[in-house]
Amino acid sequence: MAGLIDQDTVNRILDAADIVDVVSDFVKLKRRGVNYIGLCPFHNDRTPSFSVSPSKGLCKCFSCGKGGSSVGFLMELEQMSYVEALRYLAKKYNIEIKERELTDAEREAKNNRESMLAINQFALEQFEHNLTQETDGQTIGLPYFRERGISDAAIKRFHLGYALDRRDALLNAAVQHGYNEKYLIETGLCIKNDRDQVYDRFKGRVIYPIFSISGKVVAFGGRTLRSDKTVAKYVNSPESAIYSKSHELYGLYQAKQSIVKKNKCILVEGYMDVISMSQSGIENVVASSGTALTDGQIRLIHRFTENVTVIYDSDAAGIKASLRGIDMLLAEGMKIKVLLLPDGEDPDSFAQSHTTAEVEQYIADNETDFIRFKTRILLEGVENDPIKRSEVITDIVKSISVIPDSITRTVYIGECSRILNIDETVLRLEVDKATARQRENYKYNEQISQTTPAQQMTPAQTAGTNNRPQSTIESTAKSRRLLESCERELLKYALKYGTVTLCEAVDADGNSTPMTVLEYIAEELSADGIVWTNSIHKEAFDTAMQLYRESWPNDRQKHIETTQSRRDEMWNNGMSEIQSTAIDMADIKKQEIALKEKCDNFTADEIDRFANDYLNIRMASSPNAEIRQLTVDLVSERHQLSKVHTKYTHIETERDKLIDLVPKAVASVKDAHLAIMLKLENEALARLDTTAPDYIENLAAIMKNIDNYTRLRMQLARNLGERVIVPRR
Ligand code: UTP
Ligand code: MN
Repeated sequence: MAGLIDQDTVNRILDAADIVDVVSDFVKLKRRGVNYIGLCPFHNDRTPSFSVSPSKGLCKCFSCGKGGSSVGFLMELEQMSYVEALRYLAKKYNIEIKERELTDAEREAKNNRESMLAINQFALEQFEHNLTQETDGQTIGLPYFRERGISDAAIKRFHLGYALDRRDALLNAAVQHGYNEKYLIETGLCIKNDRDQVYDRFKGRVIYPIFSISGKVVAFGGRTLRSDKTVAKYVNSPESAIYSKSHELYGLYQAKQSIVKKNKCILVEGYMDVISMSQSGIENVVASSGTALTDGQIRLIHRFTENVTVIYDSDAAGIKASLRGIDMLLAEGMKIKVLLLPDGEDPDSFAQSHTTAEVEQYIADNETDFIRFKTRILLEGVENDPIKRSEVITDIVKSISVIPDSITRTVYIGECSRILNIDETVLRLEVDKATARQRENYKYNEQISQTTPAQQMTPAQTAGTNNRPQSTIESTAKSRRLLESCERELLKYALKYGTVTLCEAVDADGNSTPMTVLEYIAEELSADGIVWTNSIHKEAFDTAMQLYRESWPNDRQKHIETTQSRRDEMWNNGMSEIQSTAIDMADIKKQEIALKEKCDNFTADEIDRFANDYLNIRMASSPNAEIRQLTVDLVSERHQLSKVHTKYTHIETERDKLIDLVPKAVASVKDAHLAIMLKLENEALARLDTTAPDYIENLAAIMKNIDNYTRLRMQLARNLGERVIVPRR
């Protein structure tokens, strides 16, 4: 199992990786200006939309948005884990990997997990061996798969097996091979009963191993061969340190390449459905294995594609029950289609009785958009019942409102208004209300409430939020969206230019020290008690700060030293060259001056480049996918001023204007906070009970706050150089 790579090695790998070089191994690149372009490997690209920026160390597709640093690119394209990507690069650049020392607790947990994985691997090999090499396997297990039309290739691909029908077959074999009984029990391969007897969980069953994304066996499913209704059809491994049912999908390991290639994932119910579809040539299939789809599983799919087609057998009860789970997929921004199979068929039987082309054609012809599908299913038979109909409408409105993308919502509103036969404007209004309500609940509960900026900015009355009038709920939701985009802008500067010196800070004694963009932002925010309200913004900023505080000073020092020694080398080489070629003293002098300038420029550029890229590259190479994507999105902008320096012109770049831009971005965030606080106060005002005994006190408190916030906003606006119109009272 991959150990932890020490931070020094990680740094060396990140610094060595040349994005053009790394991407070139997968994409044919052509030079265009300072960047390179090519066909995007993440989607079906006809004209080159994939841009690689050597100066930023990043690549990004301007059509589908995917990309990243070298590490991010590899993780995304090759579905490598973070550590795998680092190892790949280390190998490419001949960097020796030093592993970090583990703490005792880490070592124990790692040993524990490794022992469990090792014993699972052993069991897997036993089960596979049994199926094809042992008499019982050959006469009981194998014929079962044969009868169900499973090919040898599929048996291999999915590592199907057979557990011998003896209570201690695996137990004995494992112990004989030196494995510890403890881990047999922890993985659930064996069960210990209350009389302390240990026996094989899967005995006499055919085995479907469950692999993690990286291909490790984390669990097993075992199917009985008896048709006896009193035994469970499937027995599965229990949850353990290596297996969390809600975070794995059956078949994903085998399907992932195909999912990426087809940019689509087909979701079915059972082990057999996956295997039959896959052997019939449709490989982008996974199963949620009997349980309702979970958040964790959705995220897993989302790493590979946004497009999911859910296949149902035509059993109507099952369909209605599963509709709920699909709202979750929509909320994650996935594009969901649904496919019904002909009566009496399941994906397994359908794939077995049709050719690949027929199955593909059937899918293409019959998959329907989820919302349309749901509307039709729910509406069936209740068209003439006004109460039931309005329930259906409410339900559909809810499904549409969870879709994050507003354009997609609009499309659905149009379509559903036709299917439901109600006015489009009415439907839109309902959806907007539901959207606002959801945002409100989510953001209000999860974020703002625990992260209210500073005491003095707390609204006087936040009780009774339930009876807040609808209109203000919508308007605060709007303010919060504004706040979020202000945060995003600010975060952009933090990640893009964090280590760049912004200004000189002068302390009480008159000493001035350079202040970087990151320090400036951190200080400005904490002075006003402002925290990031979007959780991923917060995480990204905290990560950047941590890098800045813990690794940057050291890494920078080391880099300066290397640069110095490279400069010295350059200088020495230059000098000996001058001495051997110069024609006279004047010439030597002239050449020496030129050399010095060249060396100084080199040092300055090199140090500057390192500072400029430091956070970008590391953040865009974060193990956290959300942080990686966010960084790439923020750092790469489609239209950029190109930096043109000639003797006569100097085109200002964003970087040149940081001293204006960063304080403005900080002020915008503060202002957006104040706007929300003001809205809340105004709501409190509207809600005030004029007959309450403390009415006057409450009124005064609210007015004082309103006054306070308004003044703060005007001050900010003045600082931003905007014209302010003082409100009349
Ligand atoms: P199915 O009954 O559709 O299973 O249950 P299947 O894979 O099609 O199996 P065959 O065709 O009968 O051999 C769907 C999934 O639900 C889980 C399994 O993951 C199964 O693949 N399941 C079902 C259980 O975990 N336990 C059970 O008792 C039944
Ligand atoms: Mn089945």
